[in-house]
Amino acid sequence: MARKSKTSTQKPKSAGRPRGAMKPKSVKNGNRRSRVPDAIAFLENEHREVEKLFESFETARSENKKEGYADRICLELRIHTQIEEEILYPPAREALDDDFIVDEAVVEHDSAKALIGQIEGMRPGDDLYDAKVKVLSEHIEHHVEEEEEELFPQLRESGIDLVALGERLRERKDELLAQMAQRD
Ligand SMILES: [Fe+2]
Ligand SMILES: [Fe+2]
Repeated sequence: MARKSKTSTQKPKSAGRPRGAMKPKSVKNGNRRSRVPDAIAFLENEHREVEKLFESFETARSENKKEGYADRICLELRIHTQIEEEILYPPAREALDDDFIVDEAVVEHDSAKALIGQIEGMRPGDDLYDAKVKVLSEHIEHHVEEEEEELFPQLRESGIDLVALGERLRERKDELLAQMAQRD
């Protein structure tokens, strides 16, 4: 314990807070931990992960690293688009009065998949490689914005069981990853 010096004419640095008051409230057991992410939380988390991968691709210097990030981006997006189409979009069509928003999402997936196919057949250093990854990232950015700002809020309002859908999305993703690992 530090003793106070008698020469302290300056303003006191610490007024000696009461011990109990310094203890921060524990937040460890808040309900956040136990909450199961629903379909929207799950998909939004995937969106953030892919955005990070695009950022890493852009800052990567070596062709090896670029290729690694591009492979991950293509794999993640293939799985993400497939599980959305299989598990989220069909009940979304039924739940929404106007399902044009889902039609649009499917068409956006198709054009993303076309670009993904091209990127998978290329290597860093090939003509247009970086440009194709860039255009894919812009395309995905636009698509994600529409999902998060239009489709997902409408789904929340529709009363659809998003927790059950979240479970199915997770299970299907695991299944697809296992199938891909077997093929390798
Ligand atoms: Fe999507
Ligand atoms: Fe999505």
